[in-house]
Amino acid sequence: MADFDLVIRGGTVATAGDTAPCDVGVRGGRIAALGADLGKGTREIDARGRLVLPGGIDSHCHIAQASSFGLRTADDFASGSLSALMGGTTTFIPFACQHRGQSLRQVVEDYHAEARGKSYIDYAYHLIVSDPTPSVLGQDLPVLIRDGFTSFKIYMTYERLRLDDRQVLEVLDLARRERALVMIHAENHDVIQWLTEKLLAAGRSAPKYHAVAHTPQAEREATHRAITLAEIAGVPVLIVHVSAAAAIEQIRWARAEGLAVHGETCPQYLFLTAADLDRPGFEGAKYMCSPPPREAANQDHVWRALIDGTLDVYSSDHAPYRYDVTGKLAKGPDAPFKTVANGVPGLELRLPLLFSEGVVTGRMTLERFVAVTATNHAKLYGLYPRKGTITPGADADIAIWDPARVVTVTAALLHDNVGYTPYEGRRVTGWPVTVIAGGAIVADEGKVLAEPGRGQFLPCGVPGPLARMTEAS
Ligand code: URP
Ligand code: ZN
Ligand code: ZN
Repeated sequence: MADFDLVIRGGTVATAGDTAPCDVGVRGGRIAALGADLGKGTREIDARGRLVLPGGIDSHCHIAQASSFGLRTADDFASGSLSALMGGTTTFIPFACQHRGQSLRQVVEDYHAEARGKSYIDYAYHLIVSDPTPSVLGQDLPVLIRDGFTSFKIYMTYERLRLDDRQVLEVLDLARRERALVMIHAENHDVIQWLTEKLLAAGRSAPKYHAVAHTPQAEREATHRAITLAEIAGVPVLIVHVSAAAAIEQIRWARAEGLAVHGETCPQYLFLTAADLDRPGFEGAKYMCSPPPREAANQDHVWRALIDGTLDVYSSDHAPYRYDVTGKLAKGPDAPFKTVANGVPGLELRLPLLFSEGVVTGRMTLERFVAVTATNHAKLYGLYPRKGTITPGADADIAIWDPARVVTVTAALLHDNVGYTPYEGRRVTGWPVTVIAGGAIVADEGKVLAEPGRGQFLPCGVPGPLARMTEAS
């Protein structure tokens, strides 16, 4: 009789706190033991020469979402979750997006129906709140928070999603009362509008002007304002997809003031630049997202902030639109930048890119890699320690990495439904060769060994910074 359902033997296990050679024993879908020379498993994986890491958690991705442009993202829960899984991510947190006039509870029901039977990996949701009416704030949100939707994103820009400062305060105040975490898309809408109108009037409509209109100062100002509004409301806040050095400085300043401000960044701010939006023809549209990739020199600031702890989490902001009439080309092949769908794909390459350029180069420790790709997401969104670490009792969600595997990225290698990748042709070193979710081997050497629908909905608990605050007080 075997001691375990599965033993991962002889690998190097890393968590956010430690790295050690040890075996991992799995029973009933959970991690049952860590140690040297564990007893027999019904199945065994030889992990000698491999790294055994917690499966990634991607806490910012847009799946089966209708944009405010009226388009739908290219990935549904099947293709999106499969792509995540094949890139070493075993939990993701997409958005249930309320457009104005929609009932938030109905929106949640609709996303549940979308995900059911399709997701390969476990999933939770953040809510996007674009219509904070008295009934949304007074009735719907408090009930949804208790049902496990404990984080929501609000926008300071995008005509059809944005809230004004008064509404931002109302949402922050509700979050304080109900112990939820607000994620803010921080860009100054009027600045972007004003610059856009001037650029278009001057005939500057190519994709590269998107990066000019979404100037770093618009991000810096809105980041400062978001932090200030959260300070006034007396609640922690998370600034999502931080791109500009000047915005990072605002987060540093807030931390020095003792404010509970958290920051997220994404691959596009480490690996792409504004020059990518100036590719020949209309190709730059493939690299358009908001905030946009910045000048090359800005990348070092983002790296430093991710390594030194100013930025807590690294997510994909996977916002997938195909380079065809269903997506980037919906308004034609030379449409003004203002009308092109915003977003880049990144679910599958998020981890390999950071591993290769961060860990393999020696820039980032393995423990920090685990923290920013998995553990901190679980802590921030109330999923820890069930998710995001390798410890007895946690779900057995594990990615086994070959740290020396060299892969040349092509769109054909990926499992999303996007048809292109902004990272085409890059060589990365290190790849998640075997992925385990809930104790089952779900991917191995590029083969998918799971069925859609195995992933379960995860209600989230009290977000980390709020739980910590409560403990301290
Ligand atoms: O350009 C982006 N990031 N599109 C997705 C929506 C958002 O604001 O995150
Ligand atoms: Zn955003
Ligand atoms: Zn996003």
